[in-house]
Amino acid sequence: MTNAIEISGLTKRFGPILAVDHVSFSVTQGEVLGFLGPNGAGKSTSMKMITGFLRPDAGRSQICGHDMDSDPLAAKRKIGYLPEGAPAYGDMTPASYLKFIADARGLTGAKRAQGLEDAIARSHLEHVLYQPIETLSKGFKRRVGLAQAILHNPPVLVLDEPTDGLDPNQKHEVRQMIRDMAAEKCIIISTHILEEVNAICSRALIIAKGKIVADGTPHDLETRSPYHNAVTVVTAPQALEDMVALLKALPDVATLDIEDQPDSHGCVKVTAFPQEDRMIINQISAALQGCELPVREMTVERGRLEDVFRQVTLSDAHNAA
Ligand SMILES: Nc1ncnc2c1ncn2[C@@H]1O[C@H](COP(=O)(O)OP(=O)(O)OP(=O)(O)O)[C@@H](O)[C@H]1O
Ligand SMILES: [Mg+2]
Repeated sequence: MTNAIEISGLTKRFGPILAVDHVSFSVTQGEVLGFLGPNGAGKSTSMKMITGFLRPDAGRSQICGHDMDSDPLAAKRKIGYLPEGAPAYGDMTPASYLKFIADARGLTGAKRAQGLEDAIARSHLEHVLYQPIETLSKGFKRRVGLAQAILHNPPVLVLDEPTDGLDPNQKHEVRQMIRDMAAEKCIIISTHILEEVNAICSRALIIAKGKIVADGTPHDLETRSPYHNAVTVVTAPQALEDMVALLKALPDVATLDIEDQPDSHGCVKVTAFPQEDRMIINQISAALQGCELPVREMTVERGRLEDVFRQVTLSDAHNAA
């Protein structure tokens, strides 16, 4: 099967800044790829090159087998793109703007009518169709941007921060919309919201200083976190010392992190980190059952994407994962 997106060696320099440095990856139908990285990492620049809005200095982007450089019209027909900030013509209404985009996309007849109807319904724009876009709230502007991206029902979607600036309800709706389309499309989204990666992405790619520094499923990445399989025990302040002694004595516990300032419920907590690749939850449960120490809560940590993100983007991590 042809990869829906095939990127190889994409490179872009702006004067002295090497914004994107030989980025290569491919994405297949059914994948939702989360594009992560600090501000200025090169996410938007990569997306502009993938979608043919910016010409790369080197490298190529192929969409459903069509080369963006040699056959841009065929490649662009297969893509819906939500640019950063979702720009649109402010004095137009969503209705007139979407009709304009439908014409620009060359949609006619039943396909045009169906495309408009579906895009408006999926983006929940029915109630603001005739209001100038510049008077819409940020969330609705973003939905107009999403509607224009999906209007021609493309197999590939490239969405640059689709939930940026949305309230929690709208974030939820946009995520749901992406999830609903995921099986039949190939989707790349950039985001700064790491919980979004767990919520909707089947794969995450982290870039820093224009290079890919990590690539894997959210679970793969979480396992790289020092918190992977760590166990946090919440207890009473008077039991803290004994709890620490008990956890420290367990053979598979490597280190402890102690929070001895009581929280709003008057509780303190200890996180036990396992020796490499060990599961410590059973050992800890067994040890706690044999004693009288109070346990208010006990959780096994899956790993924290935030730590992994910091680890791979703050270190001078320029080795491809
Ligand atoms: N048109 C341009 N002219 C000059 N420099 C640019 C231009 N566009 C981007 N850059 C630079 O390229 C680098 C990558 O920018 P880019 O917008 O791709 O980052 P990003 O990962 O999308 O960041 P953010 O998370 O803030 O959106 C930055 O250093 C930016 O200043
Ligand atoms: Mg950006």
